[in-house]
Amino acid sequence: MNEIEEVKSRLDIAEVVGQHVQLQKAGRSLKGLCPFHTEKTPSFIVTPDRQTWHCFGACGTGGDVISFVMKKEGLDFIEALKLLADRAGVKLPERTRTQENKHKYERLYAANEAAVSWFRQLLTDADAASGARAYLERRGIDSSTGEAFKLGYSQDSWDGLRDHLRDKGFSNEELIAAGLIIEGEKSPYDRFRGRLMFPIQDPKGHIVGFGARALDDSTPKYLNTPQTAIFDKGSLLYGFDRAQPAIRLEAQAVIVEGYMDVIAAHQHGFDNVIASMGTALTERQVRILKRSAPRVVLALDADAAGTEAAVRGHDVIRDSAETSENVVPVMNWRGLVTYQSSVSIELNVAVLPEGKDPDDVIRGDVDEWRRLVEGAQPVLDFRLDTAANAQNLDSPSERSALVREFLPLLTAVTDPIVRAHYLQRLGTRARVSERDLGSMLRRSRTSGPDNREQERSPGAIRRGDPKEEFLLALLLRYPQIHDEGVDVTSELLWESENRQILEIWKDSEDQEGLNDALPMELQPHLERLLDRRLPSYDTKEAIAALYDCVAKLEARQTKADKRSSEALLSAIEETLGPAAMSADGDSNPDDEQTREFESALNRDMETGLKLHARERSDPQTRIETGANG
Ligand code: UTP
Ligand code: MN
Repeated sequence: MNEIEEVKSRLDIAEVVGQHVQLQKAGRSLKGLCPFHTEKTPSFIVTPDRQTWHCFGACGTGGDVISFVMKKEGLDFIEALKLLADRAGVKLPERTRTQENKHKYERLYAANEAAVSWFRQLLTDADAASGARAYLERRGIDSSTGEAFKLGYSQDSWDGLRDHLRDKGFSNEELIAAGLIIEGEKSPYDRFRGRLMFPIQDPKGHIVGFGARALDDSTPKYLNTPQTAIFDKGSLLYGFDRAQPAIRLEAQAVIVEGYMDVIAAHQHGFDNVIASMGTALTERQVRILKRSAPRVVLALDADAAGTEAAVRGHDVIRDSAETSENVVPVMNWRGLVTYQSSVSIELNVAVLPEGKDPDDVIRGDVDEWRRLVEGAQPVLDFRLDTAANAQNLDSPSERSALVREFLPLLTAVTDPIVRAHYLQRLGTRARVSERDLGSMLRRSRTSGPDNREQERSPGAIRRGDPKEEFLLALLLRYPQIHDEGVDVTSELLWESENRQILEIWKDSEDQEGLNDALPMELQPHLERLLDRRLPSYDTKEAIAALYDCVAKLEARQTKADKRSSEALLSAIEETLGPAAMSADGDSNPDDEQTREFESALNRDMETGLKLHARERSDPQTRIETGANG
């Protein structure tokens, strides 16, 4: 659940609307006089079940609680969201990309960029960097690789970078915010001194920070930029900007641990190699990766692979403690690593030879590296093998331990065929029938600690609307549709956040433009849309799926309209009394009410006809859209 959903789920639309409109019960809905136009008969309907509102009179529009506040208070989406978040007691992350903020970010990128040039120049020219140059040579890194990765050298001085960047016009405040200098007792001083500098770039190629390796025994071996507004370890992948084309092409990314490992790999032509910044893979890293490749190979060193503790030891808690609080870094080491069931990626493990890291292997024998990566095992096989090898399977209690250890890993596997496969493999080793294992698994599913979703009270969860999200996911993932000029009315989407994204999408040229125009508050929602599972379509199928989905949303709209118009008619019936219902009743209601009655009657007939036409013509699902929710 993202913040927007959180806000919506904590508020009740009836209560929010109720502050402006006097609402009365009308069946499962509530009705009142529309606050957006003058009328005598209530044509404004609130449906608490769906948390929507709809004016069935002159306005003919509707939406959710956010769009109500937007319209009522004359606010834009973000302003309305903020107002409601305040009211709901939800803290929105402070990362609005206002003009001012944007400028701040640009300055941080610029400071890092200027630092790179400075470090780089020192490395290539300065006498003081001769040791660093020799070190790189010893490690077999040639100058073109050094240039590609923008390696540099920080001089062994307290103020070299500081003074240089001040001359370039950066303030102390900016340099501290960029993590380049540290606030001192008397004056601020350089963070990085006498180290080999590895610039770290975000996926867009901005320099956001550094890893800095000591050239002697000083500690830490690697000193990294601290968390800053633009440097967030949990969402960065070292080398990703350079590796992305290859990752896409090969549909696979290889993840290693160290900066040096990435550099050695690229120098030897393995361009899809990246590093996870020395921490466990986080959810955000997986999200980023998943957009480029469905498959990840994790190169694990033999020690880590050998000990169960180390496999688990990519410790979730430690990571989440050091990054921001709404991050959920979960490295479950399951066959399909799942994150809140929305992101999944195929994970494979390549175990390195004892005592070697990827850098050693690659420099020793590229073919060995190639074999290792090609021979990577699905993580579940890897886990089963390590678990089984650690037990003496002649002992019943150790077989039982094996089952207890491995079975919980299968709770995350949703594909029944994959599950059956592992149940069978586990059964063979543990000498238990597949059926027995299956029922044990089902039991652990309902009680196991892994069922995070079931731990929360299910009634409280407001999930996004699957049809709306499917439609947006299609638009976002198949940019070809943009060129088709398919028009989707934003009113068809009831959730304001979806409506908002659709409108921005319509106005933007491409994904890049969308990203730039999108307020930060909508970023998490956009990410969820991008992560939605879609069948793989060609362009024609994608367009067909889109039309199908639009048709379903239109049908939903018509049905809701019909229900509202019926509610409205019965409301008028009540106020006017049965006499008015005959065409020439002489109960003498005033003119306005007669007009309202007539228009309501017309609307009801219109929607009735529309609904009827739709029901007759709507063919059963033309194409499997997965949007049947
Ligand atoms: P390693 O100690 O394996 O370093 O740490 P390495 O990459 O093989 O470096 P070389 O070959 O000794 O030069 C792996 C990664 O863990 C992070 C860095 O990202 C490093 O590349 N790390 C390690 C730190 O952040 N700080 C440290 O003090 C050590
Ligand atoms: Mn190494």
